[in-house]
Amino acid sequence: MKKKTENEMNRVLMSLSEIEELRKTAVSSIYRQSYHIQPITGLMNDPNGFIYNNGMWHLFYQWCPWGAFHGLKHWYHVVSEDLINWKNLGVALYPDTYFDNGGDFTGTAYNINGLIHLFYSGIHSDKNSEAESYTCMAKLTDDNRVKKYSAPLFGPSDEYTHNQRDPKIIYDDDSGKYYIFIGAQTKDQNGCIIVYESDDPKKNWHMRGRLHVPGFESFGSMWECPSLEQLGSHDILIFCPQQLTLEGHGTGTNHNGYIIGSMDFDSLTFTPDGAFHLLDFGFESYAAECAANTEEANKKYLIAWMGLPDSSFPTDKEAWSGCMTLPRELTIRHRRLIQKPIHGLESMRKALVSPSLKVLPDTAEIAVTIYPDDFNMTLFSKPDGTGGLSIDYKDKTREITLDRSGMNIRFNVENGESRTRVLENGLTHLRIFIDKSSVEIFVNDGDAVFTSRIFPEADEHGFTISECTSINIWELGHTLEDDFII
Ligand code: FRU
Repeated sequence: MKKKTENEMNRVLMSLSEIEELRKTAVSSIYRQSYHIQPITGLMNDPNGFIYNNGMWHLFYQWCPWGAFHGLKHWYHVVSEDLINWKNLGVALYPDTYFDNGGDFTGTAYNINGLIHLFYSGIHSDKNSEAESYTCMAKLTDDNRVKKYSAPLFGPSDEYTHNQRDPKIIYDDDSGKYYIFIGAQTKDQNGCIIVYESDDPKKNWHMRGRLHVPGFESFGSMWECPSLEQLGSHDILIFCPQQLTLEGHGTGTNHNGYIIGSMDFDSLTFTPDGAFHLLDFGFESYAAECAANTEEANKKYLIAWMGLPDSSFPTDKEAWSGCMTLPRELTIRHRRLIQKPIHGLESMRKALVSPSLKVLPDTAEIAVTIYPDDFNMTLFSKPDGTGGLSIDYKDKTREITLDRSGMNIRFNVENGESRTRVLENGLTHLRIFIDKSSVEIFVNDGDAVFTSRIFPEADEHGFTISECTSINIWELGHTLEDDFII
């Protein structure tokens, strides 16, 4: 087959027939997920525009249809009534205007007068200059059609480098004003957030300046996907600092984390009340987004891309890559974010599987109760009990370690193959969700989460476990309608 040129791969998708061949390759993959949102073909990255409206959850994501690479980004739209059963609706944003000919980059959604509005970065790409980022808006009609507003809300600021993107729209009750946070980079290469303000989300936006985050003036070289969330009396600043080296992460420099603190819009200051914490202790999790306008006002749900920038995956050769994490419910405990799998996932359970078989189904939930003591569990081990993904806990130091170096298929090894976290309390519970190519490990009811892609081969479906109080394994059903729709 003739190799495609750069231009052919970076074009706007016009019809389903253009990706039919890619689709055949993608769906023949043994690693297609059963209950995690994944792209019909090509590459999925950040979740975008996560919102609840009129009995329906909407999620969009960054999508390059043409293969597992970061080509021209479209927004793909999926919906769910319960955050568990998802169905594909097709492309929401096509990068087909002057302001977004270089891609429709990440953004968020907001309900204005009952209609979902999408705020996103339109990337204008001019052959002779660097890409310019415009903050654009679109409206979702009742029949899920997207109408772009013809003019952007605002263009790039020349006080920062061209890295300005990922608008997060926020309404502040106290001032009665709207704010947009933009992830950005100062000219001396420090990551930051630029804040815009308006009294009307559809117009009158003006720049207020850089968000002050005392102590974080030089913390990574670019902050992607910023967000400000409220949980009880706490404000939480979530973002992805880049070019930041962290111990135990090899040469990986892309991270997603948060700071708890308090936000003051008058002085444009977010005052941290503690350190920067990682959102997830596994290998692949990035660009997390919280849903806007949840059905119950006090609930906070988060979803993230089970991937990382600058990484490659075994399915790249099958013309697809990326999936979402399970949605999680956020709360705060001891000044840490707690992430629990959302309520209702129990409905995915099918048959109970006997642990004595020592064989894992392709899709499974495992619930383990442990008395605080040293503990070890290996998932995806070979029939003789060797290899696999090991979860190891040392009670003396309260260290829990996930190590995937025992798998046949190893990838992104430069980011390190094991991750350790010191638990607040001794290990008592594990709740593990396994899909065809991912594992999410919730430790002690959300105290820590380890999220990772994993690509077991045919001889890697065993498991081993040290002594524990109880273990239940359920096979899980299919909750993703993977329809081929654009
Ligand atoms: C994060 C990110 C965003 C950008 C998008 C492009 O993964 O780089 O900053 O808007 O992906 O796909």
